[in-house]
Amino acid sequence: MVGRAMRLFLTRLMLLGKGAVRRLSVQHLMDRFGKVGKEVYLNMPVVVHQPESIYLGDYVGIGENVVLRGAGGITMGNRVLIATGVAIVSAGHPLVPPRWGVDVLKPIHIGDDVWIGTNAVILPGVNIGNGAVVAAGAVVSRDVPSYAVVAGVPARVIRTIEPPKETRGDAAGFDSVRQSQ
Ligand SMILES: CC(C)(COP(=O)(O)OP(=O)(O)OC[C@H]1O[C@@H](n2cnc3c(N)ncnc32)[C@H](O)[C@@H]1OP(=O)(O)O)[C@@H](O)C(=O)NCCC(=O)NCCS
Repeated sequence: MVGRAMRLFLTRLMLLGKGAVRRLSVQHLMDRFGKVGKEVYLNMPVVVHQPESIYLGDYVGIGENVVLRGAGGITMGNRVLIATGVAIVSAGHPLVPPRWGVDVLKPIHIGDDVWIGTNAVILPGVNIGNGAVVAAGAVVSRDVPSYAVVAGVPARVIRTIEPPKETRGDAAGFDSVRQSQ
């Protein structure tokens, strides 16, 4: 038997429509993060473990089917793009058993203006410098220098990027740089 309050709630949701239900559930999830800056987009479904240990800056876009495993801590700077299917995992298990119930936690730091390509995997303890690009399908097991492009398994630097002349303070700055390229 559905109670009156629940019936009212469900009716309201139906009236609001599917989009509103999605927005409510995304907002509910984001409320549980350690920090969420302005203009952060989660394109559901995104799988999030331990959201309270995940800290997101401003202008962060996270694609569909991304997995964020936050136990060891995940921080992202501003203007970060995470493509579809990326896994960012800050927890693992020891090489030597026993492993069951034993977690090895290492924080992951992702700088400003980082782009992570589809299906890349970011392993525990990795730091990704400002402006770096992680190619699609890369498995990142070591730190990535700022303005480097890394690719492959394990990820290696395949090129470096000329940093933009002006430091960008916000998304508007980003647009003007993009238009000038
Ligand atoms: C890394 C990337 C940005 C291209 O960078 P680039 O510097 O322009 O790369 P190029 O195409 O000039 O390729 C440079 C070399 O890297 C290799 N390479 C490019 N992408 C690669 C990848 N994902 N994995 C492994 N090697 C890759 C190329 O084969 C090439 O090798 P070669 O010199 O032996 O021929 C692009 O390949 C990529 O992975 N984009 C991600 C796209 C994506 O995920 N989009 C999701 C929506 S945002």
